Amino acid sequence: MGEMNQRQIEDWNGPRGARWLAHHAWLDRSFTAFSEAALRAANLRAGEIVLDVGCGPGATTHEIAQRVAPGGRVVGVDVSAPLVQRARELVQGTNVAFELADASLHPFEPGAFDVLFSRFGVMFFDEPERAFAHLRAALRPDGRVAFVCWRTAMENDWFRVPFRALQDVLPHLAPADPSAPGPFAFGDRHRVERTLRAGGFANIAMTPFDAPLYVAADADESLDQTLRVGPFAGMLAEQSEDMRQRGLSSIRASLAARATGRGVTLSGAAWIVTADV
Ligand SMILES: C[S@@+](CC[C@H](N)C(=O)[O-])C[C@H]1O[C@@H](n2cnc3c(N)ncnc32)[C@H](O)[C@@H]1O
Repeated sequence: MGEMNQRQIEDWNGPRGARWLAHHAWLDRSFTAFSEAALRAANLRAGEIVLDVGCGPGATTHEIAQRVAPGGRVVGVDVSAPLVQRARELVQGTNVAFELADASLHPFEPGAFDVLFSRFGVMFFDEPERAFAHLRAALRPDGRVAFVCWRTAMENDWFRVPFRALQDVLPHLAPADPSAPGPFAFGDRHRVERTLRAGGFANIAMTPFDAPLYVAADADESLDQTLRVGPFAGMLAEQSEDMRQRGLSSIRASLAARATGRGVTLSGAAWIVTADV
């Protein structure tokens, strides 16, 4: 392996970061139910000091800043320069700061935080156990963790529906290794529990949380949106033009089958995870 987390750092400063930046308003709207659930689990109080890991453009950092005022503050940490720049533009306040850094290596002040929070930002570490042990040291002895992460790829219709449609045309297409860093790396609850336990955490609790994700108004727009934000454009890019067109038609048909008078909606399946130091 090269330098720690290098592939993810390059991706989030490259194509994936650019896609997230271009569509974060849509992503923020789609993810609101998930952050609300994680914030409820975090049970933040005025005066607390919070670390928002993998904060991206800062929507949750902003929410946290409101909830810990007066007297509290929040630090958003992220490896992506363009996303941290956008967060700094969008979220300003005397109780908010952003760090452009790898959360698994950054020398945080020991015991500086009450709470470690994350919305979909802790599944990208090459060595999650080491990363959580490192993050734990940044928490107070009575500190706690609350984050939301995706369950498995096949439980998440926003991935499964277009992926299966693509597999109808490209039967050899395999989903990514579920244990590799990526959105579904924490899908397996036993892996999350092992990771947190190895990182030194106790009282680990995981609750399934499902919510609909609005894709777009009709099948054509939904196909465009699916290609813009998901991994599917990358999968199709490797195919011949004929297969690419067949893949697009198949994904479009799968989305059309989900269309209702209120547009296309696919479900998301997440874990709400809490633990204590
Ligand atoms: C799926 S996005 C979620 C962003 C944001 N939390 C949200 O919900 O909009 C994952 C974020 O984790 C960040 N990330 C990945 N690896 C990281 C690391 N080692 N340290 C800090 N941030 C990381 C990425 O740059 C990206 O912004």
